[in-house]
Amino acid sequence: MRKLQRRLLAWYARNGRAQLPWRKTRNPYRILVSEFMLQQTQVERVLPKYRAFIKTYPTLETLAAASVADVIRQWQGLGYNSRALRLKRIAETVVKQFGGVLPRDLESLRSLKGIGPYTAAALRAFAFECDDAAVDTNVRRVVHRLTLGSEEPQALVPRGRGHEWNSALMDLGAAICTARAPKCSICPLRKVCAAAPIDPAATKRARPKSAAIPFERTTRFARGRVIDRLRRLPAGQGVSLLVLHRELAMPDRTADDLKAIVESLVRDGLVSLRGRQVALAE
Ligand code: ADE
Repeated sequence: MRKLQRRLLAWYARNGRAQLPWRKTRNPYRILVSEFMLQQTQVERVLPKYRAFIKTYPTLETLAAASVADVIRQWQGLGYNSRALRLKRIAETVVKQFGGVLPRDLESLRSLKGIGPYTAAALRAFAFECDDAAVDTNVRRVVHRLTLGSEEPQALVPRGRGHEWNSALMDLGAAICTARAPKCSICPLRKVCAAAPIDPAATKRARPKSAAIPFERTTRFARGRVIDRLRRLPAGQGVSLLVLHRELAMPDRTADDLKAIVESLVRDGLVSLRGRQVALAE
């Protein structure tokens, strides 16, 4: 093993989050759920949601058999509700086409809508202990810095240690090799990193990000508000567009804007619109 690999694995053994529930299990369904939750949400916020979700839907079959509306309700607090729907559709497909067993080969995994290159590799590494590199933006950044872009993440995976290695890179990216203001002075890889400053104490903090649009003005925020409201309706019940518009009282959104937002949720399969009655999709 190379020095870089030995150092990172040693750091992970002492400082890594090997106790996270989705790292202790090798159950492919549980790992699938965790990966869907972790794609947009921080570990700390995912933890309670993951536990509750697994309790409600302990197996792929239970998730496949659930109603879309119930799954969206269970997803509350995680955002990006279309992920919940995709996850449920994957469960249905695996039950129908793969006899309820999540496949391990790359081609079958990639044939499932919503499983891209990252998630397929993560499933193979975390559920099946394959030596795939699961490359999300954080891992790409860390590897890019370590080698100044001269090596592919896959080339660095120590044979037989894919599970630990991917976890270690993710933890280093979250705790030390962060996007802005990386903590090079305490990094275990400082001595073998191509991008580490010679004198880490002398490095300046990165400039703050330029102003972005406030989250409350984004379409994602508005879509989330609509779903949150519909979740609170008794099962099977809807609410009119007019009432929805009045209740949500979003200052920058006209009734037509709201209708367009609802229609986009209908197209995504999250919501049903019958006449002017809006409800969670069943
Ligand atoms: N462990 C396994 N997958 C992870 C992910 N996507 N983010 C953080 N930790 C993880």
